[in-house]
Amino acid sequence: MFEGFFLGWQTRLEEDPLQSCEISSGILAKAQLFATPFPSGSELLTHRVPRLRIFQVEFRPVTFPYTPGIEVAGVVEDVGPTVTAFEIGQAVFGQVAEGAYAEYLTVPIETLALKPKTLSFVEAATVPVGATTAWRTLFDNGGLVSGQRVLIQGAAGGVGLFAVQLAKWKGAQVIGTASTANLDFVRGLGADMVVDYTTTRVESVVQDVDLVLDGVGAQTLSSSLVVLKPGGTLISIASPPAQEQARARGVRALMSRGAASTPLQTFTQLIDEGQLKVTAGKTFALSEAQQAHEYGQSSHGRGRIVLQIVDGAENTFA
Ligand SMILES: NC(=O)c1ccc[n+]([C@@H]2O[C@H](COP(=O)([O-])OP(=O)(O)OC[C@H]3O[C@@H](n4cnc5c(N)ncnc54)[C@H](OP(=O)(O)O)[C@@H]3O)[C@@H](O)[C@H]2O)c1
Repeated sequence: MFEGFFLGWQTRLEEDPLQSCEISSGILAKAQLFATPFPSGSELLTHRVPRLRIFQVEFRPVTFPYTPGIEVAGVVEDVGPTVTAFEIGQAVFGQVAEGAYAEYLTVPIETLALKPKTLSFVEAATVPVGATTAWRTLFDNGGLVSGQRVLIQGAAGGVGLFAVQLAKWKGAQVIGTASTANLDFVRGLGADMVVDYTTTRVESVVQDVDLVLDGVGAQTLSSSLVVLKPGGTLISIASPPAQEQARARGVRALMSRGAASTPLQTFTQLIDEGQLKVTAGKTFALSEAQQAHEYGQSSHGRGRIVLQIVDGAENTFA
């Protein structure tokens, strides 16, 4: 437990406190009150954040003071002096390095985009990391093209559900793995074939794959290598694949890396055109962040868990 947790933000409105959260050993420990930050520097805007989502429980070491949370959706409350790309009152969504478990935060404008009009704020907050990771892995790292055969391990997960849809959109033949309860969900995303990983070894029913996106890691990396055709590629987003095994099989195996080549605005367009479906998971209040993390430890795919800060956000679109 870290006592005296404090955000180093400058205080603009002492009488306008907001909640933030404390994290200890990967589990949120308590909520505290802080004052509103304001945009400093030229390219920042202050962003009112009615809804936030949780991105994994973060076990990486952090330097305190620290506020978790890397995805946001909300309304622009204020802008820095040189910002012209966004206006006060616009509905936006995006990604931040940290600090999204809060009612207000400042966000670099290059990591934001206008929120899809067809999504509520709760839904929009579940998009940025999953969609950009799927795009980067499939297209930038994996070079997926129409007609290829791709396996998505963890197809119902926060990344997998976008990977299935983006690969189909590209014209690939898509196979996904999921647990029994999520088979129909993954089929509904457009997968041509779904393998129940709780009953079936994927390598017993899937072969000759051009590309595997492995969103699970240790338990699946071996089968991910085995299903590849010679010259195929395994890209893991979870844990590093064994290079010796890959070389022995004549395939490439790497971790997903780099920035996605497409801006977040691409997803706004695909979503509003109806080409990309979004599924939000369970929502919690900011004060329930600890319970949300505990729930996240036991949940199974089908959309991100969301911290909802403003009542009605699940039904609010602009
Ligand atoms: N490198 C990056 O930039 C990046 C970005 C985002 C995430 N990640 C990492 O990528 C991983 C996945 O992230 P996520 O957000 O998609 O996670 P998630 O939402 O928790 O989903 C994980 C999925 O894995 C599935 N799964 C569990 N065991 C499995 C198995 N043995 N075989 C097949 N599927 C299995 C689960 O399926 P069921 O629900 O059907 O049980 C679940 O849907 C995490 O390790 C995360 O840290 C990396």
